[in-house]
Amino acid sequence: MTKASNSGWWRGGVIYQIYPRSFQDSNGDGIGDLPGITRRLDHIAALGADGIWLSPFFKSPMKDFGYDISDYCDVDPMFGTLSDFKALVMRAHALGLKVMIDQVYSHTSDQHPWFKESRASRDNAKADWYVWADARDDGNPPNNWLSIFGGSAWQWDTRRRQYFLHNFLTSQPDLNFHNPEVQQAVLDSVKFWLDFGVDGYRLDVVNFYFHDRQLRSNPGRGMPDGSDPAVSPVNPYAWQWHHFDKSQPENLVFLQRLRALVDQYPDTTMVGEIGDDDGLARVAEYTGGGDKLHMAYCFDLLGEPHGATYLHGVFTRFNQVVGSGWPCWAITNHDIPRVATRWGGAHPPAGLLKAAAALQLSLRGTACLYQGDELGLPEAEIAFEDLQDPYGIAMWPDYKGRDGCRTPMAWESAAPDLGFGAAGSTTAPWLPVAEPHRALAADRQRGQSGSVYETYRALLAWRRGVPALIHGDMTLLSAHPQVLAFVREHAGERVLCAFNLSDAAVNWRADAAAGPIGAVLADSGVRGAAVQGDAVAFEPWGVLFARLG
Ligand code: NOJ
Repeated sequence: MTKASNSGWWRGGVIYQIYPRSFQDSNGDGIGDLPGITRRLDHIAALGADGIWLSPFFKSPMKDFGYDISDYCDVDPMFGTLSDFKALVMRAHALGLKVMIDQVYSHTSDQHPWFKESRASRDNAKADWYVWADARDDGNPPNNWLSIFGGSAWQWDTRRRQYFLHNFLTSQPDLNFHNPEVQQAVLDSVKFWLDFGVDGYRLDVVNFYFHDRQLRSNPGRGMPDGSDPAVSPVNPYAWQWHHFDKSQPENLVFLQRLRALVDQYPDTTMVGEIGDDDGLARVAEYTGGGDKLHMAYCFDLLGEPHGATYLHGVFTRFNQVVGSGWPCWAITNHDIPRVATRWGGAHPPAGLLKAAAALQLSLRGTACLYQGDELGLPEAEIAFEDLQDPYGIAMWPDYKGRDGCRTPMAWESAAPDLGFGAAGSTTAPWLPVAEPHRALAADRQRGQSGSVYETYRALLAWRRGVPALIHGDMTLLSAHPQVLAFVREHAGERVLCAFNLSDAAVNWRADAAAGPIGAVLADSGVRGAAVQGDAVAFEPWGVLFARLG
C-alpha cells in the first residue's frame, strides 16, 4: 500500500463542527439540510477555520438523530442527496475548507439490512455480525454491562431467542468487530467516502468497536458518594469500571488497518471520540506512533469541573501520558451543555467566553469548535414537552439531555426563527429557537469590534502566524488558584500563554525558570493583562500572550 502525502493541515488546525439538523433549513421542513449548510459555508471560511466536521447525515430512522445509521453510503432524504453533498464538498474546497464526515461504526440502526438479516436466524450469513449471547439459566443477560442511555446493555430478541448488545439505544445494536467480515465492510464504506472526495473522518465512540470475547462482567466502581465527580449519581453507567465492554486491545490492530487505508489518500485525517475511564491515556494510546488515529478527543474539558486548578491537573496528567499522541480539544459539542453556561452560569461574562476561546486555541493539539461557540451562545432551556433527545427524556429532570445545545443556529437577530428557516417557511423548527440567542446572532456580532465572534476571528487569524501555537511543545508553569499558564515552544520561539480564569483581578508572577517576559503579542484580539518586569496584573478573565526572552 502506498502512503500519500499529508500536509498535516489538521495538526494544530481548527475544525468547526456542524450539527446538520440545526444549522440551516433550505426546504422549509423545519430541519437543517445539506444545501442549507452549503449556503452558510462562507460564515465558517470567514471565521478562519481549516475544516468542518459534519455530524451524521446518512440514511437513518433518526432514533438518535443520525447516530443510528441504516445505510453508511447514502444521504438521508431529510438532509438532501448525494449530489447535494457533492456540491457541499466542492463549495467547501473552493473556500479552502476540508470536509470531515462523522461515521458511526460501533453500532448500526436496527433498521440496517445487516441487522435485519443477522436477527433473522442463528445461522444466516450475517448471524455473527452483531454481538449475540444466550441468556443465563435464570433468563438474565450474560453479564452486567450497561447502556449509557440507561438500563442493561442487552436486549432480548424473540426471533433468535438471544440477547444482543447495545451500548446506547436498543435500536443501536453493536457490531461485532471480532468478525473479519465486519471489519472489511466497515473499511469498504470508509473507502467509498474517500473515493467520493472527503478529507477525513470523525469516528464516533471509536474505543467501543471491540468487546471482551469472553463477555466478562465489569467490576463495580462503587456507588456515588460525592467524592469522585466522575461517578454520576444520575447514571449507573458511571458506577462500573469499563474493563470489558470497550477499549479492548484488538482495537489497536484494527485502527492500524484503518490508518493504512486512509493514508492512501492525500491530506486526509481522522479524529476519534473516546469515552473511557481514563480518556487521556486512551487518546495518547490511539494517536501515538503515527499508525493509528491522527487525533482523538476525550471528555476532560467537556464535563462540569473547570477553573485553573482543575485544568492544571488535566494538562499535567496529559503531559505525563501523551508521548507522540495528538489531542483534539473541544469545550462544547452536540452532546454537552454549551460552555458559556457550563463555565459561566446563567449570565456568562463576555470576558470568560473570550478567555475560554483563547485558552482552547492555544493548547497543544487541534481545536474543535462547535457551531455557536463563536457567538458565545448559552445553553437553551427546553421544556419537557419540547424534548427530542431520548437520553434526556429517559433521565429527566436530573439530566435534561442534549437538546439544549442543539437548538437552531442564531444567524439573524430580526428573523422570528433567527434565520434558520427557509425563506417564507412557516414550519416550526424541530427544536424551538432560544430567545436569549437573539441578541447574540451572527449578524449582530459581525463587524462589532470586541464581540465574541470578532474575538474568535481575530484569534484564528493571529494564531496562524505564530508557529509555536500550531506546532510547539507545551510546558505548564506552576499551578495557581486563578491563573493557568504554560509555554509553547517551537524552533527557538517561546510564547507565554497565561489566563486569569476568575472574575477577580489577580497579581501574578511567571515562574522564574520561564525567563523574562518580552513583547506582548497584542494582535491576538484578547487582552486584560498589564506587564511590569516579571509582574503581571490581570483584569478579571484577563489573557496574556507574550514572547519569552
Ligand atoms: C456519541 C455521539 O456523539 C452521540 O451523539 C451519540 O448519541 C452516541 N455516540 C451514540 O452513537
